[in-house]
Amino acid sequence: MTIPFMKTILNLIAAGLLSLSGSASFAQTITLSVNKPQAAVQPTMWGIFFEDINFSADGGIYAELVKNRSFEFSQPLMGWKETGKKGAGNILIVNRGNDNPANPRFAHITVQAGDSSYGLYNEGFRGMGFKKDGRYNFSFRARNTAGNPTGKLILVDEKGANIGETTIPSPGKEWKQYTAVVTASATVAKGGLQLLFSGNGSLDIDMVSLFPEDTWKQRPGGLRKDLVQLLADLHPGFVRFPGGCIVEGRDLANRYQWKKTVGKVEDRTLIVNRWNTEFAHRAPGDYFQSYGLGFYEYFQLSEDLGAAPLPILNCGMACQFNTGEVAADDDVSRYIQDAIDLIEFANGGTETKWGKLRAEMGHPKPFNLQMLGVGNEQWDSQYIARYQRFEQELKAKHPEIKLVSSVGPFSSGERFEYLWSKLRPSKADFVDEHYYMPPEWFLKNSNRYDKYDRKGPKIFAGEYAAHIKVSKENDNEKGETRNTWESALAEAAFMTGLERNADVVQMSSYAPLLAHVEAWQWRPDLIWFDNLRSVGTPNYYVQQLFANNKGTHTIPVTVNNLPLTGQEGIYASATIDQQSRKILLKIVNTTGKPANYKLALTGAVTTGNAATQQVLTAKDKGDFNSLDNPGVVKPVEQPLKAAKSNVDVSLAANSLNVITIPYK
Ligand code: AHR
Repeated sequence: MTIPFMKTILNLIAAGLLSLSGSASFAQTITLSVNKPQAAVQPTMWGIFFEDINFSADGGIYAELVKNRSFEFSQPLMGWKETGKKGAGNILIVNRGNDNPANPRFAHITVQAGDSSYGLYNEGFRGMGFKKDGRYNFSFRARNTAGNPTGKLILVDEKGANIGETTIPSPGKEWKQYTAVVTASATVAKGGLQLLFSGNGSLDIDMVSLFPEDTWKQRPGGLRKDLVQLLADLHPGFVRFPGGCIVEGRDLANRYQWKKTVGKVEDRTLIVNRWNTEFAHRAPGDYFQSYGLGFYEYFQLSEDLGAAPLPILNCGMACQFNTGEVAADDDVSRYIQDAIDLIEFANGGTETKWGKLRAEMGHPKPFNLQMLGVGNEQWDSQYIARYQRFEQELKAKHPEIKLVSSVGPFSSGERFEYLWSKLRPSKADFVDEHYYMPPEWFLKNSNRYDKYDRKGPKIFAGEYAAHIKVSKENDNEKGETRNTWESALAEAAFMTGLERNADVVQMSSYAPLLAHVEAWQWRPDLIWFDNLRSVGTPNYYVQQLFANNKGTHTIPVTVNNLPLTGQEGIYASATIDQQSRKILLKIVNTTGKPANYKLALTGAVTTGNAATQQVLTAKDKGDFNSLDNPGVVKPVEQPLKAAKSNVDVSLAANSLNVITIPYK
């Protein structure tokens, strides 16, 4: 036993995460048949699902700090209030709808402040997060309409104290964008922005914006760095976008329309977010979609992450949990055209209409789109009718694009069976199955895909998460509390079944991805954040362990010649990486007792060193990570001693283990 190995074991024991007492003495043998590679694991196997829910985009990963920057919320001054000297001016909201239907409103500010000042305060999304010494890029569109008011902007802390200020350019007579940079002198989680004018006169302002300079890849107007880094650390194989029910809209007028999310940000038409009022008990009231994170930014993010883009498009159906409104038969072709145009936007030459726009936005090279989802959680014959029209036209024009079809929101039942009965014979490319179920379901269903037809459509496990019921009395309402180790452990056990069936299951994604601790509608979620901090849940680390140890081919994992699929609470799957020549075993102990095994290799021998065991476990199944306590459930890595063709392993109670064994 090496000294570092002993130290890790002692640390795990001290932390209460590993107990050696009462453990068996490597009596049972698990066979890893290295010489029997089976399915190729697709690069898309472990992906992510992004939906603008829980303030994931505006107020979340899209780093804009100003809420309602263009006064287009249904209440035009929501998020804003007058500030400065009382009576030293007034604000009028003006609508130029005919001239600018995408961005009709602006604010007309009259100033009679002389040497004092008058203006507007913006509260941000549950406040604005500022970091000490951080530089912030301010911009607004403005024009002077009378006199010569001069302006400044001030960053303020929770109490209204000045933590950074700068003058802003005085606008000329024509609409133009003006910029300024301000530095924060303190770290503040819930600050705000004041825009103050002195002198006498009037001006019009619009698109008032403030971004941290330090965004992901330092892109101006870009994404929040810490949140994208957490996504990058997952090495996702694909990014599903923009959802989720948001694709469908509560009605068709409020569906997601990708064409309204590209081009200049000031020309993107804002709409109310469907999650603004979906759940009465968690209705934020101020949840809108500015589309600052639109389809261009999405494709760019996928590229940054090295992930395949997987857009899900509206197929002419609004959410069937809401209005269930459908597009008239004659109208469906418009929706199909949107899909065809999106393929052109992503992949078309720069001489094409949509390819040209992509190039103008900064990406002349194609984004290499290869898949498209038709509808989100649709069901019944109205879906099949629309799906078939999409399939017919898209396959004719773009046979290279794989299509993803829906089997509704549930993992079984009449609707599910009906849709499968239609999709199976039509040889659909991918079928998108969803399951938000209790942990017990995940344990029982780890062999779900063992029985699926190997020649049928491929599976996209497009949305899943183990949902724990928590009684009101036991729920302290902290968002992260539902992301318990119990839920993550059950998902890990289930995911061994996904991996074992990698010939059929070629994509999967936990859902939803992101949630603001003060503005969520749905939980559990993979990552929680506030205005400054972010934290991966235990479920996040489960996803990460699988995704970062994907391998290239599955291999059989057996005990007594039977696949290890939950016998005595132990679930396992394994892959090999044929390039790096490593065995990557995922083994989950769902019992409350430690367990010991001998891993026996067939068809290969270990290289004798550098084997490792990554352990993810917790003291209690109810443990969770929070912003204040982010490291409660986190993987720990330890070296493993490997003999020529076998390796002894100890599995802590309730643990996910990834065992890496170099082989030759
Ligand atoms: O992930 C949250 C929601 O769950 C999605 O929007 C929807 O597709 C599903 O019902």
